[in-house]
Amino acid sequence: MTCFRYLIAGNWKMHGTLSQTREYLDTLKKLLGEDPGAEVVVCPPFTLLAEAVSLTRGSPIHVGAQDMFWEDWGPYTGEVSAPMLKDLGCRYVIVGHSERRQLFGEKDREVREKVKAALKNDLIPIVCVGETLEQREQGLTERVVYQQLEGSLEGLEGEEVQRIIVAYEPVWAIGTGRNAEPGDAQEVAAFIKKELQAMYGERALGISLLYGGSVKPENIESYLEQPDIQGALVGGASLDPHAFASIIKIASKRG
Ligand code: PGA
Repeated sequence: MTCFRYLIAGNWKMHGTLSQTREYLDTLKKLLGEDPGAEVVVCPPFTLLAEAVSLTRGSPIHVGAQDMFWEDWGPYTGEVSAPMLKDLGCRYVIVGHSERRQLFGEKDREVREKVKAALKNDLIPIVCVGETLEQREQGLTERVVYQQLEGSLEGLEGEEVQRIIVAYEPVWAIGTGRNAEPGDAQEVAAFIKKELQAMYGERALGISLLYGGSVKPENIESYLEQPDIQGALVGGASLDPHAFASIIKIASKRG
């Protein structure tokens, strides 16, 4: 799907003003230059997307949204749709992030509708799955991840499957500074790939898998060394353009 070996996406969550975005992207563009050697995506809040698209035009940085609604248009107060994101110039959209699942009650069925709507509108969905600490301690990681995959991704048609990206983000590792052991992340990544192949056969072979959860410049390499991990979804560390650029540079050296 991308010509790079790794994809590094930054999820700004609910952070950023217009002036901070200008300063951030100016710095990031300078740090990365013309050829960052990895697919780079920034996902600011909705209010900053238009500015981010305009500031990254002609640069190797792509823009993604953090969520969307599945209907194209209509009486859905407060929602933003895939055609609107596409129209702005977004290329990616994060779907089913654990904060949306946990804080806003998003269900797999809704994630699936969003994935389908994103694909229909030519956006690349980054679909997040991952277990809570309690589920991990109870030995339920594979069962939970399997249910999320099946519920969020079943029923995709034809080559649609090849355009999705899956992010494995153990909930207990997000924003906690407590990153997963790379070997544990690899184990779940391999499980996810096996299940996707069981669902979609050969069509699933090219799906990229990202790890997310307290990724920093100090630990990114240990994830990229894993055979089933093709990049990272970075939260906190992506808010600092220097830290984000360091992560991208480490990926680029391996790529
Ligand atoms: P974190 O967030 O890097 O701050 O742990 C990751 C994410 O939520 O995608």
